[in-house]
Amino acid sequence: MTGHILLVLFLASAIALTFLASSANASDVGDNIMVCGPCSRNFIPEINSILQELGLLEKVDIQTTECLGKCDDPVVFMFREKTYSGMNKDNTKKVLKEAFGI
Ligand code: FES
Repeated sequence: MTGHILLVLFLASAIALTFLASSANASDVGDNIMVCGPCSRNFIPEINSILQELGLLEKVDIQTTECLGKCDDPVVFMFREKTYSGMNKDNTKKVLKEAFGI
């Protein structure tokens, strides 16, 4: 009997920990800006600065990716499944402001 209770408690704990872990991951997952590594990685500090200025550091992750196919018009990044090229500080800020209703 005691063994069954311990087993139930163990399983309940495992389920609770799994749920908590998945909840933590869900809150960590937000939007990603996928910056073209080969041609635009030097713009990452600028994106960081913009995210900080807009208070979005906790909501948007920056990652690098392979070529996004717009090599002739850097800065290039993908955000919410759309590829942007010819980006600079001003138009990046505009994209993020519109996306987050700022
Ligand atoms: S190398 Fe950046 S878009 Fe191709």
